[in-house]
Amino acid sequence: MNPIPRISWLSAALLATATAVAADKPVLKDVYKGKFEVGVAINRSVTMGAAGMRRSQEQVNSDIALVKEQFNQVVAENEMKWESIHPRAGADGFNFGPADALVAFGQSNRMSIAGHTLVWHSQTPTWVFAGTNPPPASATNAPVPPPAPAVATNSTGTNGPGARRPGFGPGFGGGFGRYNGPRASREELLERMRDHIHTVAGRYKGKVKVWDVVNEALSDSGTTNVLRSSLWSEIIGPDFIAKAFQYAHEADPAAILRYNDYGLENPMKRQKLITMVRQLQAQKVPIHAIGSQAHINVSTTFEIMDQTLAEIATLGLPIHITELDINTAQGGQRATGADVAANAATTQGGQVSDADKKLADAYEAVFRAFVKHDKSIDIVTFWGVNDAVSWRAQGKPLVFDGDNKPKPAFAAVIRAATGGQLK
Ligand code: XIL
Repeated sequence: MNPIPRISWLSAALLATATAVAADKPVLKDVYKGKFEVGVAINRSVTMGAAGMRRSQEQVNSDIALVKEQFNQVVAENEMKWESIHPRAGADGFNFGPADALVAFGQSNRMSIAGHTLVWHSQTPTWVFAGTNPPPASATNAPVPPPAPAVATNSTGTNGPGARRPGFGPGFGGGFGRYNGPRASREELLERMRDHIHTVAGRYKGKVKVWDVVNEALSDSGTTNVLRSSLWSEIIGPDFIAKAFQYAHEADPAAILRYNDYGLENPMKRQKLITMVRQLQAQKVPIHAIGSQAHINVSTTFEIMDQTLAEIATLGLPIHITELDINTAQGGQRATGADVAANAATTQGGQVSDADKKLADAYEAVFRAFVKHDKSIDIVTFWGVNDAVSWRAQGKPLVFDGDNKPKPAFAAVIRAATGGQLK
């Protein structure tokens, strides 16, 4: 028998194309080998291989090929968020299918896997916060969140009548809106959080290497309020953060536990991160890495990223760049926030002039900073495979276009790996 299988003209042609792609296109995960992993956030279209609203079957196949070719780390863009993985109360309220598919995809392609995210104010179902305690009077009509306390070692945590809890504006908690009804007690909510974390992190023990345990707990406004006012902080108290890390550590003692937030390029927000993490460290909370989302824009310079990384590194924890994208839309140039409630506005107004060049320059600058700090950085994850599937599609913020063709920004990222000069 001939051990060499016959190759039809069609598969020979496909093979030739595949070889040609591999031969002349550099590979992100290879050029950064020894420095940090290069990851990507993916959706169920990639992990399950099925066409959806945004991508045809052919496009999905191309996305899958690109992910396998370029990246060695993955995270689910949505499938492990509370509303997706645990939509209903009770033991049978979990929906593990899409998250299991992500884990299977990562494992079969020998990619390391991050879990995103265990505790967050957004994309969390209403039932999580619901109970029999009346919400504070201020809860339904106060538009601006008042100062929240910094991390405290303890909290009385009562939410019954007389507990004067701060109010809030729209866009927090319970999906993208905010639940305004009767609330769970501190003890009930802690029990739900513990059950959720133990079940989810327990299920993927030994498979998910890194967990975003708490996402976006820091406040964007003011200098005094360290924590964002959320249903987590209001019902449990500021120690909800420490509790979440403790439960995650119980569930998987070997997992790397990450605190993840956006806007850390902003010195004020960064100072809040440092204040909060130092307090957690002083309390011996098992926090092992800092996730910096890095939803940035084209005016982010080498100096800004250099300074950001240098200061975060003083915490003595590894840094993971968790959700990298660089917005080129006019609407995204004023700030580097990433509050999901304000996302649409950041992609309005068309692209800035000379967007492709500005994007390439910004990518080269920030990757040069990542290389400078590669001893502190373990992972750099892009938030999406290409511009077409990006959560900021109109801001065309990624290095591959909607046809998965590398943009000038891709070459810039490759250049940065080899110490290329900025033009
Ligand atoms: C975004 C996803 O990209 C969108 O698909 C979804 O509709 C909303 O959430 N910070 C985070 C991510 O931690 O989970 C958010 O992802 C982007 C901002």
